[in-house]
Amino acid sequence: MEKLGKSARRRSKQADIRSRRDCQAPGRRATDRAISYDQLRDLSAALQTTREEERAHIARELHDDLGQLLATLRVDLSLLQQQADSSAQTTRQMRSMDKLLQRAITSLRRIATNLRPHALDEGGLYYALQTLRQEFIQRHGISCQLEAQESELILDDRYSTAAFRIVQESLTNIARHAHASQVWISVHRRDGLLHLQIRDNGRGIAPDDLNKAHSFGLLGMRERVWALDGEIQIRGREANGDGGTRITVELPLP
Ligand SMILES: Nc1ncnc2c1ncn2[C@@H]1O[C@H](COP(=O)(O)OP(=O)(O)O)[C@@H](O)[C@H]1O
Ligand SMILES: [Mg+2]
Repeated sequence: MEKLGKSARRRSKQADIRSRRDCQAPGRRATDRAISYDQLRDLSAALQTTREEERAHIARELHDDLGQLLATLRVDLSLLQQQADSSAQTTRQMRSMDKLLQRAITSLRRIATNLRPHALDEGGLYYALQTLRQEFIQRHGISCQLEAQESELILDDRYSTAAFRIVQESLTNIARHAHASQVWISVHRRDGLLHLQIRDNGRGIAPDDLNKAHSFGLLGMRERVWALDGEIQIRGREANGDGGTRITVELPLP
């Protein structure tokens, strides 16, 4: 065997370490990437949960605190209005103040409901979806059917919030992009799974739409589903024999 001097041995050892490091590097980098990808997914789920909690908290504060204050102000004002000795101008002013107070209460309710649908806490997912459906029909004049059993939809908050947000984003997308005249929503609980489907008869989502930069609606939907170990399928014109867009979700229930 060839004998190497001390410095030559060191040089050869260093080259060996370098070459081993280079061989391992691609694999190790891929593993690192895989770990950080998983961590990003966890981070996204945690942020989603925190966001929902904060929204619910702000909605409650608005409703319980500011809402109560405005209601008390209205009562006080109506007591003032009942006093007979006010001038015509004061009476007019008080009437206009009452109208403003009414508007403030209405917009506060709207803002609080947008943050966290009251219906979700009061009546559960079924009631919240019914409310969403009615508002959608009223606002956009698009026919919308909901097929669901109230008794099947008493779920843990994480699941009802996810299902609600997915339907909400789907309806927003339909109103914005689909040019549809009819929407069908179905939610069922079967074999330990929550099955959710939103279908429209519009122009149909194109394959490129699924990866649009700066479009986070569909991405947010997928993230919500994956955070609960579920599966989601978004199918458009090509895949749907009957046109339109079809979003199918399956969430394993605990
Ligand atoms: N129901 C639908 N019908 C037709 N196209 C849709 C539908 N839903 C989504 N899209 C398309 O998918 C794209 C991505 O949707 P989304 O991620 O929610 O982003 P955004 O609504 O902000 O554009 C939309 O820009 C639209 O082109
Ligand atoms: Mg959208």
